[in-house]
Amino acid sequence: MSKVIDGKAFAESVRAGVGKQVEWLKSNHNITPGLAVVLVGEDPASQVYVRNKGKQTLEAGMNSYEHKLDTSVSEAELLALIDQLNNDETVHGILVQLPLPDHMREAAVIDAIDYRKDVDGFHLTNVGLLNTGGDGVVPCTPLGCIMMLKERLGSLSGKNAVVVGRSNIVGKPMAALLLKESCTVTIAHSRTADLPDVCRSADILVAAVGRPEMIPGDWVKPGAAVIDVGINRIERDGKNKLVGDVDYASCEAVAGAITPVPGGVGPMTIACLLHNTVQQAARQHNVELPS
Ligand code: GUN
Repeated sequence: MSKVIDGKAFAESVRAGVGKQVEWLKSNHNITPGLAVVLVGEDPASQVYVRNKGKQTLEAGMNSYEHKLDTSVSEAELLALIDQLNNDETVHGILVQLPLPDHMREAAVIDAIDYRKDVDGFHLTNVGLLNTGGDGVVPCTPLGCIMMLKERLGSLSGKNAVVVGRSNIVGKPMAALLLKESCTVTIAHSRTADLPDVCRSADILVAAVGRPEMIPGDWVKPGAAVIDVGINRIERDGKNKLVGDVDYASCEAVAGAITPVPGGVGPMTIACLLHNTVQQAARQHNVELPS
């Protein structure tokens, strides 16, 4: 088996499974899941993400609603739109694309979303449910990482996992999910003493720092699974290039399994967003989805 974990192929299989669940909800319960995505401003990377989300939502057989707001809208106007979507029965999932303009309070906006319609897993209630073993919705990128790890390694129980990065979007929920799988979990970050040795202790190493090629192969335990969450745009030899947070060539030589950039974690994120939307639609209607 190749040590490279093919996130693109895996994401396709997740999307196919979601498509089947959507069909089942439509034919058995007359429910068409709907996802509303709200984009404030003109950030080019966010526009690309939002376009891809809309396209893949429709391809999975769901309804997609896009709300594009000018950068100048007030926080109160955005909160009014969220309130309207919270009360719209055709909308089962609400995603507000981050980052938001500086004049908006991100936490207040996220927590205005009904937690039953939160598909990012960023709402405080869902954060709390994840950390107390409850049945909430889980952030898309860490969920995609866990799916790939379990598919490749089987049980994760008892493994040493090191997550480099402590963001609310990836690092912290990733650590919570690994703990739920009975790993021994370390969260490392920019102030961690002796980061290379901490990384070398990992059977599972997750890099989510947003620093291009920061982790070299000699920080990786031979045979370890390396999950690279970074997507960094750099210029090399006069060309634009996407690289991860690990130095791929040297890490690939040592690792037992590794996700490439692009084509690893990235494609899994939107697939998991579709997964979360169907889960929320089923929960809202008290329907148990077939697995
Ligand atoms: N911006 C970059 N990634 C994400 C994400 O996963 N969710 C939201 N809401 N915004 C993002």
